[in-house]
Amino acid sequence: MKINLVNIKKAKKLLDKGDCVAVPTETVYGLAGNAYSDNASKKIFILKKRPKYNPLIVHYRYIRCLKKDCELNHDFFKLYKKLCPGPVTFVLNLKKDSRISRFVTNNKSSLAIRFPKHPVIRGLLKKIEYPLAAPSANLTTRLSAVSSADVKEDFGKKIKYILEGGKSSLGLESTIIDLRNKPTILRLGALEISSLKKILKKKVLIDLNSKKVQAPGQLKLHYSPGLPIRLNAKNIGDNEAGLFLKKTKKLRKNYFYLSKSGSLNQAAKNLYSTLRKIKKSKYKSIAVEKIPNFGLGKTINDRLIRASRYQ
Ligand code: TXA
Ligand code: MG
Repeated sequence: MKINLVNIKKAKKLLDKGDCVAVPTETVYGLAGNAYSDNASKKIFILKKRPKYNPLIVHYRYIRCLKKDCELNHDFFKLYKKLCPGPVTFVLNLKKDSRISRFVTNNKSSLAIRFPKHPVIRGLLKKIEYPLAAPSANLTTRLSAVSSADVKEDFGKKIKYILEGGKSSLGLESTIIDLRNKPTILRLGALEISSLKKILKKKVLIDLNSKKVQAPGQLKLHYSPGLPIRLNAKNIGDNEAGLFLKKTKKLRKNYFYLSKSGSLNQAAKNLYSTLRKIKKSKYKSIAVEKIPNFGLGKTINDRLIRASRYQ
């Protein structure tokens, strides 16, 4: 992807003023603002209709900038060396004298951070003097955006500028690992857990429902296209959309597939855009065939289970 410096300048100008701008990343598009500014951070929550207790991820380009905001430990350096920039988010202890807005963290003593790989957001981060707080650029509980058109669909003119970056190459959010104590996965994502285990060479815990503690039940529904979803479907009704992992031979009008060959990586990349396509085709419900539960299939199943809570 070629970087357009004129576009980056436009985004910078708005961000410097405390406005929000949508930015591309290799995982999903983000709705970005200056993480050091209370006003910019508050705007993100309002635009996204996000409950204020749900903290934001902050995006960096340089480790020297991160050092000003977070306590870095041995596990962090090991993973950083091998995986960054890339689709992984680390939860670390916030430094007492960090300038991160308290609205970004909701006054927590920890901060979720990542080093995105997409050249356009990296080009932008190079030009600005602050890190970018950016949740996924979608309305709360809905599907994340993997293209500028998706962002437009959710926000229309409410966002002043969308920095173009083409389709997100991974199409699923980053994997979140809490590194403050024993390494613990908080969200499955575009990076497989096995890669983290291999590098850390120690046990990695998994706690995917820690949010329940903060807000019982409120975040159970997520990643929803706004349609009922039936999982592990064996038959597809004539009036519902059928979603398959692999292109089938008997492809009917209401059949959609995530990958021609059945590749889970390809399917991960196409998941959100295919669900959006189904929604636009006016089907009233979706029946998904069983998706294998290994590799990125685990993340796909995690997203589908949360989306299937829509009623
Ligand atoms: O791939 C991604 O991670 C994308 C791109 C834009 O970077 N961002 C993203 O952000 O998915 P968002 O806000 O949609 O999801 C961030 C998740 C939320 O579930 C939030 O609860 C969790 O990160 N989070 C943020 N700060 C945290 C913290 N200090 N401790 C634990 N979880 C945290
Ligand atoms: Mg999100």
